[in-house]
Amino acid sequence: MSEWDDMPGSAGNPAAHVLAVVNQKGGVGKSTTAVNLSATLADGGKRVLLIDLDPQGNATSGYGLDKNQREQCVYDALLNDVPLSQLIEPVGVEGVFMVPSTIQLAGAEIELVSAFSRESKLKQMLEPVKGDFDFVVIDCPPSLGLLTINALTASDGVLIPVQCEYYALEGLSKLLESVRLVKTHLNPGLEVFGVVMTMYDARTRLSQQVVEEVKDFFGERVFDTVIPRSVRLSEAPSYGQPITIFDSSGRGSEAYRQLAKEVMARV
Ligand SMILES: Nc1ncnc2c1ncn2[C@@H]1O[C@H](COP(=O)(O)OP(=O)(O)OP(=O)(O)O)[C@@H](O)[C@H]1O
Ligand SMILES: [Mg+2]
Repeated sequence: MSEWDDMPGSAGNPAAHVLAVVNQKGGVGKSTTAVNLSATLADGGKRVLLIDLDPQGNATSGYGLDKNQREQCVYDALLNDVPLSQLIEPVGVEGVFMVPSTIQLAGAEIELVSAFSRESKLKQMLEPVKGDFDFVVIDCPPSLGLLTINALTASDGVLIPVQCEYYALEGLSKLLESVRLVKTHLNPGLEVFGVVMTMYDARTRLSQQVVEEVKDFFGERVFDTVIPRSVRLSEAPSYGQPITIFDSSGRGSEAYRQLAKEVMARV
């Protein structure tokens, strides 16, 4: 028995909620949100599985796991049928477990093309383990390729981080089109779970304008919580720590705690 399934509260949870953190635009705060939201959900007493579905491995290193020194990663679940249960690791934060990524995952985007049920591999692999968690959070790469399609097919909801910057809305209709296609053909239960505004700078009018614009577009799907631009949030990954450990009482921690509350209230 591995360390993660020998823990209290793992008796099977029919309500496990699977969230894909998606935006094909790069650098908008997907990995920062996946890492810190998983930590604050765990702080709120939830058992969380974080799946790093990005070959860049930023969520993996964000929790201090070495993405260069491992024999297996999520790639092996997608392409070698290795059960996810064999890939799940504790990250040293109570309540958070992870399926790491390595650079090997970069090949998956192409190799999946010829695989059987290529869009549903992650969903299939997740099925036997997801009852052990309250939340599964999937950090996606900045593209709408097969890795992201796998995340959308496996998920109940899409969590979209949007950076408070010019052109914030650019590309979002393409993203919503992908969500619609996956919903129609592969995963009828899929919904846009929420939109979180990131790197908000209260000193600029631009940030406020972008929030208003995104609210006009997404309405109540936009979380009340906005994530401030914070140097501490950008420093935490180089220490391999979520913000709750790196700077537990700072603005970044506080914001991600608020976001976790909203997320828990929405499911
Ligand atoms: N609220 C924030 N305040 C300051 N810096 C931030 C914040 N959120 C993210 N960053 C920084 O911005 C950069 C991009 O963030 P992140 O890696 O989370 O984005 P991403 O969408 O996952 O990127 P990619 O598309 O490459 O996967 C990182 O250097 C990160 O540390
Ligand atoms: Mg990322």
